[in-house]
Amino acid sequence: MRRRVPDFRRPVRRRISVWIWWLIGIFVIAGLLLFVVQHQHQVQLDLPNQEMTSQSADDSHASLNFTEELLSTTSFARQLNDQITLAKAYVIIAKEHSNLQLAWELSSQIRNCQRLLSQAAVRAKPITIEEAHPIVSRLSHLMYKAQDSHYDISTTIVTLKKHAQALEERAHAATAQGAEFAQLAAESMPKALHCLNIKLTEEWFRNPSLKTLSEEQRNSPRLVDNNLYHFCIFSDNVLATSAVVNSTISNAEHPQQLVFHIVTDRVNYKPMLTWFLTNDCKGCTVNVRNIEEFSWLNASYSPLIKQLLDKETKAYYFGGKDQNDEAKFRNPKFVSLLNHLRFYLPEIHPSLEKVVLLDDDVVVQKDLTVLFSLDLHGNVNGAVETCLEGFHRFYRYLNFSDTRISAKFDPQACGWAFGMNIFDLIAWKRANVTSRYHNWQEQNADRMLWKTGTLPAGLLTFYGLVEPLDRRWHVLGLGYDLEIDDRLIESAAVVHFNGNMKPWLKLAISRYRHLWERYVNFAHPYLKDCIMH
Ligand SMILES: *[C@@H]1O[C@H](CO)[C@@H](O)[C@H](O)[C@H]1NC(C)=O
Ligand SMILES: *[C@@H]1O[C@H](CO)[C@@H](O)[C@H](O)[C@H]1NC(C)=O
Ligand SMILES: *[C@@H]1O[C@H](CO)[C@@H](O)[C@H](O)[C@H]1NC(C)=O
Ligand SMILES: *[C@@H]1O[C@H](CO)[C@@H](O)[C@H](O)[C@H]1NC(C)=O
Ligand SMILES: *[C@@H]1O[C@H](CO)[C@@H](O)[C@H](O)[C@H]1NC(C)=O
Repeated sequence: MRRRVPDFRRPVRRRISVWIWWLIGIFVIAGLLLFVVQHQHQVQLDLPNQEMTSQSADDSHASLNFTEELLSTTSFARQLNDQITLAKAYVIIAKEHSNLQLAWELSSQIRNCQRLLSQAAVRAKPITIEEAHPIVSRLSHLMYKAQDSHYDISTTIVTLKKHAQALEERAHAATAQGAEFAQLAAESMPKALHCLNIKLTEEWFRNPSLKTLSEEQRNSPRLVDNNLYHFCIFSDNVLATSAVVNSTISNAEHPQQLVFHIVTDRVNYKPMLTWFLTNDCKGCTVNVRNIEEFSWLNASYSPLIKQLLDKETKAYYFGGKDQNDEAKFRNPKFVSLLNHLRFYLPEIHPSLEKVVLLDDDVVVQKDLTVLFSLDLHGNVNGAVETCLEGFHRFYRYLNFSDTRISAKFDPQACGWAFGMNIFDLIAWKRANVTSRYHNWQEQNADRMLWKTGTLPAGLLTFYGLVEPLDRRWHVLGLGYDLEIDDRLIESAAVVHFNGNMKPWLKLAISRYRHLWERYVNFAHPYLKDCIMH
């Protein structure tokens, strides 16, 4: 009603309202335009990949470079490729945890992914979001599932490292074999070792006083004196043993307090004896024994001997060659027997209380007498643990498909290393360790629990009886690992050339060889004659 009142203003008002309508119209259109532009911009921000790649595809459709596409940070091809890599890792992990369903699903998505990638490469056209999305989301879902079921990132890293390690070891084995085929071995140390043995044996027969000397040493009260520091070495390699002994005394404050108990085989007995009788060791005591002296080490006592004499086992170890009892100690394969002597330390040294076991492929770099005063907390075996690297866990050495193993042991239990161990022989006898060893060795008569080596038997025998030592006591891997930290090596009390690339072989890793060579007297007349250094 009130509107009607100012009737006279109507024409003016109508003109103004037309203008207003025009203005509103223009604003609306401008607003719409702005909205559309803004929106498009946002879409571009959200999906730079799709917009940009499809644009460039439209521009230069024929000349798409798929290599560049794979390297581009924004392409779907790149994303798919990255996901394949990750998914493959999860396949390995899933398989390892026997989750075959997940492994299968992942593999099938990986195949889809690869198919899409190869299609894109063939048609030379980038992958679009429509193509990539279903696969990416399915893969992401599966990987989420994998992560959810305890395959966390540390498991992933551990598993990947383990596989890398396995590959590396295979590569090294191939190197070693290749070297053998190349007759490298023929011109390297083994021949020199043989030559050294011959010269030492000659000297033994030339010099009758050596025999008297050795008998004197054999009865030395120092051999059973528990106030001295006792070291055990089981070896068939004179040169290696001499480097172990020399490096130990060279770094000891009081070498005259050290006693070395060496056990070797018949072939190396006289050379070993002669070497240590004719080379000064700064007042230390060295006792050399022949494994054949141990009459208690017979088939009725040791399951290992029994197994080694067993016909079938013999075929396994010796490739079917006929062996008689007498010959067993002569066969070089019986080195394994020397290795197994570490399970008979109290039998070999009935009156000793503590001994340090050294493998013949170690080099000592610090005074080891401190080891004897470490508190082992009632444990039998002081050893460095090796599961820091993740993969040296029980499941790696033992057959966990067998209930005798899986019922008693944790597959993730930490492994440890032989090579430098301090043994409390009193605790050993208290815990009946030797009979534990016999029990496991007997159970493994069919080689179901583990295949070869002394470590698996050790892991079972000393289970719950191992005192972990600081890792710097014993740094491992110098016989296969090319990338050990220099500072770690420098800080190590003992470095261990475990692996195929022993320092006395041509194959040795040159970076570490000097660590061993500095304890070998290459000026010794026999070594000079035998080794072209
Ligand atoms: C594709 O790109 C890569 C890396 O930029 C280049 O090395 C390669 O030569 C290119 N291939 C073709 C066919 O252009
Ligand atoms: C076998 O060893 C046991 C003890 O270890 C010993 O009593 C026995 O006499 C040995 N047998 C032979 C034939 O030496
Ligand atoms: C592991 O143990 C199981 C059960 O005893 C056996 O069937 C399997 O052959 C063993 N594996 C190996 C590699 O010996
Ligand atoms: C050790 O063996 C002896 C007999 O050989 C036995 O009497 C003793 O109980 C065993 N000790 C342990 C801890 O098994
Ligand atoms: C022991 O090592 C030292 C170097 O530390 C060396 O001079 C010496 O000749 C070595 N002795 C023997 C017997 O090899």
